[in-house]
Amino acid sequence: MSNTATVSIDGKTVEMPVLRGVDGPPVIDIRKLYAEADVFTYDPGFTSTASCESKITFIDGDKGVLLHRGYPIEQLAEQSSFLEVCYLLLHGELPNAAEFEEFDHNITYHTMLHEQFDRFFNGFRRDAHPMAIMVGAVGALSAFYHDSTNVDDPAQRMISSHRLIAKMPTIAARAFKYFRGQPFVHPRNDLSYAENFLRMCFSVPAEDWKPNPVLTKAMDRIFILHADHEQNASTSTVRLAGSSGANPFACIAAGIACLWGPSHGGANEEALNMLAEIGSVERIPEYVQGVKDRRYRLMGFGHRVYKNYDPRAKVMQQTCHEVLAEVGHQDDPLLKVAMELEKVALSDPYFVERKLYPNVDFYSGITLRALGFPAEMFTVLFALARTVGWISQWKEMIEDPLQKIGRPRQIYTGAPPRDYVPVETR
Ligand code: ACO
Repeated sequence: MSNTATVSIDGKTVEMPVLRGVDGPPVIDIRKLYAEADVFTYDPGFTSTASCESKITFIDGDKGVLLHRGYPIEQLAEQSSFLEVCYLLLHGELPNAAEFEEFDHNITYHTMLHEQFDRFFNGFRRDAHPMAIMVGAVGALSAFYHDSTNVDDPAQRMISSHRLIAKMPTIAARAFKYFRGQPFVHPRNDLSYAENFLRMCFSVPAEDWKPNPVLTKAMDRIFILHADHEQNASTSTVRLAGSSGANPFACIAAGIACLWGPSHGGANEEALNMLAEIGSVERIPEYVQGVKDRRYRLMGFGHRVYKNYDPRAKVMQQTCHEVLAEVGHQDDPLLKVAMELEKVALSDPYFVERKLYPNVDFYSGITLRALGFPAEMFTVLFALARTVGWISQWKEMIEDPLQKIGRPRQIYTGAPPRDYVPVETR
């Protein structure tokens, strides 16, 4: 494979280096193209464009491989814990026992929110969507933690990273409690990350939450599966927001806003709604025909990068069976619909030709519902887990010597220059 690529246009020839990562396709470095040939490239949706160099996550979409800092997601989901994966994403290596103890302590002791912060929630309508609360509340963190908003100070960057990982479960649980009309439950330092979150969501004054190791483990694994996914839409949003020097709390709020959309993190909520709408195995052929007629999309199916089975979907499917068995919902009719729908789609030429496979969201909705969460909370849980990925990517960007403000160009297709016309003569 050549080490350079050449573009010839209007009598000018530009030779550009071809860069190679540890894995993945070669990348043409077009940085000098505009300066030397006076042309831009056009790539809506960034299907052929790398926006940065990164050492955090690698995806091979054709093979269905996902690695965090080199470790396969299947091994992390099976053998690690969410907090250990957080350390790995943030620092680049798995922690030794002492490093993990310190990290665990740091996260645990940052879970509380400023007392005034709780009053902030009262400004929302009583039935506000929990994602609407998340966008506002996480952005508001920058109004409470001024002492860690200087992005040029490495120590402040680390403190804000810890604060975000630690406080996100507390904020997410409050968004849920507010939506439910129940009193807030404060974090407890003697519980694990996932246990603490489940207790803050499901404990009520009349009845404390009883830990269930199978469900706690499942929650922790679901967090691991969503922890990072390289330069997806919300992560790119966080990087772009952060490229101007904005503080990390504001950048993560921008990421949450992007995640909310049904083509991204909102798909888990939509996937469950879709399964409920189909309702029974008998209705699947009719529904699949509607997809092929392009009346709607199969939610939880397809991915920009995976043209094979999403490795997270396999782990999620297994977790789904474990959770449903634990709560006695093995016969959940929606699980039957999901499994049959997957079978039908994977053997239908429409999906096979387009390489459409289940993504992580296909089974996550049924699993989260069995854990006790309403559909409105699904994307919130995704945001909670993805916070570590966002903040690790943000930190990597700030520390990258090549970092510049992100500023794409455009092809202008609007009106040509023209003179202003007074209103009476228009
Ligand atoms: N159902 C039916 N057809 C689909 C689907 C789907 N879920 N996804 C893609 N297609 C079809 C498109 O119609 C298109 O067909 P065509 O070439 O005949 O026009 C082809 O597959 C390619 O689709 P694009 O939209 O170009 O693919 P893109 O990479 O832009 O989209 C996306 C990726 C947004 C994830 C898409 O597959 C989708 O909308 N899926 C459903 C929503 C979803 O599950 N999102 C979660 C993504 S994973 C995550 O965020 C955790």
